[in-house]
Amino acid sequence: MSAVKKIAVLTSGGDSQGMNAAVRAVVRTALYHGIEVYGVQRGYQGLLNNDIRQMDIRSVGDIIQRGGTILQSARCQEFRTAEGQEKGAEILRSHGIDGLIVIGGDGSYQGANKLSKLGIKTMGLPGTIDNDISFTDFTIGFDTAVSVVVDAVNKLRDTMSSHERSSVVEVMGRHCGDIALYAGLASGAESILVPEVPFSIDEVSQRMKHNFDCGKRHSIVLVAEGVGKGEDICNGIIERVPSIEPRVTVLGHIQRGGAPTPADRILASRLGDFAVRSLMEGISGKGCGIINGQLVATDIDLVVNTKKEFNMELYELATRLSQ
Ligand code: ADP
Ligand code: F6P
Repeated sequence: MSAVKKIAVLTSGGDSQGMNAAVRAVVRTALYHGIEVYGVQRGYQGLLNNDIRQMDIRSVGDIIQRGGTILQSARCQEFRTAEGQEKGAEILRSHGIDGLIVIGGDGSYQGANKLSKLGIKTMGLPGTIDNDISFTDFTIGFDTAVSVVVDAVNKLRDTMSSHERSSVVEVMGRHCGDIALYAGLASGAESILVPEVPFSIDEVSQRMKHNFDCGKRHSIVLVAEGVGKGEDICNGIIERVPSIEPRVTVLGHIQRGGAPTPADRILASRLGDFAVRSLMEGISGKGCGIINGQLVATDIDLVVNTKKEFNMELYELATRLSQ
């Protein structure tokens, strides 16, 4: 006997590659177990607009390989208010929906936590390129975003080494340096500037100069947007070592597009299935994740109140290897 009979799923906040694979897993797992499933269009905004439709097996056909989200996403101010949250809960109740799966980032989890406290059986799936959700090793979309950055840096290296220049690349990550860290390690960046680790432009500039003096033909600085604008970092380097001729590239929303990597599709599929099975077992108010290969469900309250730990070991490794 399942604890839920009718569930809904929504995607919210910044979209991420693999959200579609997660929606597919939620819908097909629910239907496989005889549970009705509804899609809420445009996140919490769509919930407040009562934009909810029933989904069937075919609604999620041909989407596992697609970036973006067929349910679309939105940022919704009204849902930040207690009245908005109560209205959202009431709309779900009016449909007889007894479980909700929210796929999104930190803000979306805050909303899911509020709904859960209003008595809606809610589960969170970590869908964000930022990798800033705790109690999961990786979030859905992070691996793909890192691949996009690494591919861009490979291309920049070609032209930078031809001209013996350096490249400052600004990547996404509002409060979290993980995209810069993982992409930096994977692409051999000389400097990785993240909000979690203090840095000095003097040191970054001197390191670049030293590397050029030692025969390097190019130099890459990855800047997480959380530390400031890549352009300002670039200007700081130009002031100190103009000979390096740095150029700035802002990768922007390109990082949120493209086909999800197999790792993201597998993560999304496992988590989507897990969230539905948890609701069926009467578990709710949890954020789902995978830690060391194991599926875990952690109280959303704890998830939203725990800052994800920055991996200093990887940061130091990247610094050592990029001499
Ligand atoms: P992400 O989920 O990618 O971090 P946002 O931070 O923009 O994206 O959050 C997505 C949406 O979640 C917001 O537009 C808002 O509707 C809802 N939300 C964010 N923070 C809260 C909060 N503290 N309480 C209720 N809802 C919230
Ligand atoms: O949270 C995901 C994210 O892509 C952040 O990395 C970035 O700062 C933000 O969303 C961009 O938001 P928007 O799509 O509203 O410009």
